[in-house]
Amino acid sequence: MSQHVCPFWVGYLLLSPLRKLITNPERILKPFVRSGMTVLDAGTAMGFFSLPLARLVGESGRVVCIDLQERMIVSLKKRAVKAGLEARMEFRVCTAESLAIDDLKGRLDFALAIAVVHELPDPRRFLTEIFSALKKGGSLLFSEPAGHVSRDGFSSSLSLARAVGFEIQNTRKIVRSHSALLTK
Ligand SMILES: C[S@@+](CC[C@H](N)C(=O)[O-])C[C@H]1O[C@@H](n2cnc3c(N)ncnc32)[C@H](O)[C@@H]1O
Repeated sequence: MSQHVCPFWVGYLLLSPLRKLITNPERILKPFVRSGMTVLDAGTAMGFFSLPLARLVGESGRVVCIDLQERMIVSLKKRAVKAGLEARMEFRVCTAESLAIDDLKGRLDFALAIAVVHELPDPRRFLTEIFSALKKGGSLLFSEPAGHVSRDGFSSSLSLARAVGFEIQNTRKIVRSHSALLTK
């Protein structure tokens, strides 16, 4: 089934300073990300979380940024260059059906899927691909906007994640969202 994908122009709204005030990306990511890590931002848009991730992994780390929409990635790349962070970032465009991350198998320390799973035609495949790309003990911070996803809908996604092999841990609340830390 085809899902509603967030339009390109919404990418600009997602970067708003007001969002940063309410949902501070550094505060959310800091407990999970350390210098030298290899991390994935799946459904990165224009990089509200990817640039902070790049700062947290430092020069020796790597952030793989993937989005379905090429225009989001083009815009993110420009922002990364402006911030002087592009050397530690990788930019990829995927298809709706697959992240195509077989090359990352067992290499990720951490992954992020914020406000993206409800846009996917095949969430099980998405979760399976990320599970396979994580190292043993690696984790996925999974969050969905409460305005788009019901509590029951989020619980169904967590059941799917469990079926794929993830363990579900609690995480600090993200404002107006349902969130969980999924560990391999
Ligand atoms: C609501 S935005 C959230 C962006 C970002 N995670 C944030 O919180 O600022 C969802 C993003 O997921 C992307 N997306 C939708 N379907 C996707 C898919 N199948 N694979 C990868 N990205 C996808 C959209 O293009 C959009 O940029």
